[in-house]
Amino acid sequence: MIRIAVIADPHVHDCAWIPEGTSLPGAVRTFAETAASTRVFNESIPAFRTALDRAAEAGAKIVLLVGDLTDDGQRPNILAALSIVEEYRERYGIRVLMTPGNHDFYALAGRPQDKSFLESDGASVMVRSAESPDAATLGTGEALAMLASLGFEPEAGDLHWESPFGSDPDWSARTYTVLSPDGGTGCRMIDASYLVEPVEGLWVLAIDANVCAPRDGVSDFGDPAAFHDPTDGGWRAVIQHRAHLLPWMTDVAARAKAKGKHLVAFSHYPALDPLGGASAEEVALFGATGLARRAPTLAIAEAFAATGVTLHFSGHLHVNDTARHEGKAGRFANIAVSSPIGYGPGMKIVDLDAGRVEIRTETLRQVPGHDAAFAAYRTEARRAGQAEPPASTAPDHGVFLSRHLVNLVHGRYLAREWPADMVAFVQKSTVADLLATLGLSMNDAPAFSLSEFVEDWYRLRKAGELSHEDIAPERLAFYRRLVSQAPDIEGDSLAARFAIVLRMMRAYIERPANRNFALRLSDLAVTPL
Ligand SMILES: [Fe+2]
Ligand SMILES: [Fe+2]
Repeated sequence: MIRIAVIADPHVHDCAWIPEGTSLPGAVRTFAETAASTRVFNESIPAFRTALDRAAEAGAKIVLLVGDLTDDGQRPNILAALSIVEEYRERYGIRVLMTPGNHDFYALAGRPQDKSFLESDGASVMVRSAESPDAATLGTGEALAMLASLGFEPEAGDLHWESPFGSDPDWSARTYTVLSPDGGTGCRMIDASYLVEPVEGLWVLAIDANVCAPRDGVSDFGDPAAFHDPTDGGWRAVIQHRAHLLPWMTDVAARAKAKGKHLVAFSHYPALDPLGGASAEEVALFGATGLARRAPTLAIAEAFAATGVTLHFSGHLHVNDTARHEGKAGRFANIAVSSPIGYGPGMKIVDLDAGRVEIRTETLRQVPGHDAAFAAYRTEARRAGQAEPPASTAPDHGVFLSRHLVNLVHGRYLAREWPADMVAFVQKSTVADLLATLGLSMNDAPAFSLSEFVEDWYRLRKAGELSHEDIAPERLAFYRRLVSQAPDIEGDSLAARFAIVLRMMRAYIERPANRNFALRLSDLAVTPL
C-alpha cells in the first residue's frame, strides 16, 4: 500500500507582506472583500499548515497539490508558500508535487491586481499593482521558475520523470504553439505537465490543464487582455488547445498498466460534473452562470475515459465530490477535493492498493490560529458603523466558513445568480410556503425560513457529506424526505423552478459516498468506509 495526501486550492496569502510603496502594517484583507468571495484570505496560511500537519500525521510522504497554491500568483505569496513547503520537507520529509491552477500565474507577462487591505484603524486601502508591482500576478515563465521544485523538474532519486515533450526538463523544451479559437493567431506557451515516479511503484501524472489561449487577431502578447482567462476553460480548453495531452495520457496509462504501477492523475479542473450531474438543470434555472458553465460535458468525459486513466483528482471549484463515468470509451472516477479555505474545508488521504483505492477526507474544521484576523474584522466593522460579522466570533475554522457561506449566499449567489422573483420569494417565505407552492403536504415539516433552506442547499452542494456537521440531523432527514418527493412541473412558473431546486438538491444528497470510501478501479464501485 502507498499512502499519499491530496490538497487543493490552499490559496496562500501572506498577511505579513507589506505591499511596496504603502505604509500599511501588513497585507490583511478586508472582511468586505472576503464576504463576497468563494474563498477566505487571511486564514489561508493556518489552514494550509493544518492540511500539511494532517498529511504528516497520516505518514504521507507525497502530497499532490491540485493548483491554486497562492491567492493570485503574487511573488510575495509564492515565496511564503514555498517556505512553508520547504519547512514541511525538512521536518517530515514531505514532497509536494504541484499542477498549476488559474490563480498561480497568467499568460506570458502576468496581469494587474487591485485588492483592499486593512489599516490598523480598520480603514480599507485599495492596493493597486500599478503602484505596488509585487501585488501583480506573475506570468507563466516567471512563476514556474520559482515553483520548479514542486515536481515540475526532476529530483535526484526520482525513479522516472518525463514531460509530454520528452525527458528534457528545460522549460525551452516544453513549449508548444497554442492557437486562438479561429486558429489564426498562435503563441508559444509552456505546458507544465509531467509524469514522475517519486517512490517505487507510484506514477504521479500531473496534467497542466490551465490553458491561456490568445484571442483571435491579437499581436501584443505582453498585454493580458490578449488572452482568454483560463478560469472557465478547464478540460474544454485542454481538448481544444492542448490536444497533445490526450495521446500522451493514453500512452502513460498503457505503460503504467504494463509495468504494474499505481497511476494517479491530477489536474486543477474537474473532468466530470462535480455537482451530482445537476449542472444541466442549473442552466435551465440560472442560465450559464457560476459553476454550471464550468461543468465538463459528456464529450469531455468520453475523451478522458478513452485515455485509460481511471483515477483523477481535481480542485478549482472548492467542492467535495466523488463522480464516476462509465461510457463507450472507458471508465474513470473524478475526485473533487475541497479547499482548506472554502466551505467544507478538507483534504484527502489516499491509500493505493492493487485495483483498490481507499480515500478518507480529513476535515479541516480545527485550525490553530483560525481567528488571527478576527479582531481586524471587528475593527473594520466598527469603523464602518456596522455590527460585527457573526463569522468574526466563530469558535473554529469550520464554523467560520459556515458563517462566511451565509454572507456569500445572500451577498453573491442570491444577489447575482438567482432570478429576482425567486429571490423575493426566498426572502419573504418559509419552508411551509414552499411546500404549498409545490403542492406538497408533509405533516412533519419543521418550521424555518426559506433563506435558511437555501443556505443548507449551498452547504450540501459544495461539501456533500462534509456539510452534515453543519446541518441539524432532523433537518437533514427532512431534506431527504422532501427531495424524494421533488415534483416535475412543466413550464417556467415559480413552482416549476423551485421543483428544479429540489431536484438539484436530490442530486447533491444522492451523490456517491464522498467522505470516507473505497473505490474499486475495475468497475468504480464505491463503498463507504
Ligand atoms: Fe481555487
Ligand atoms: Fe481555480
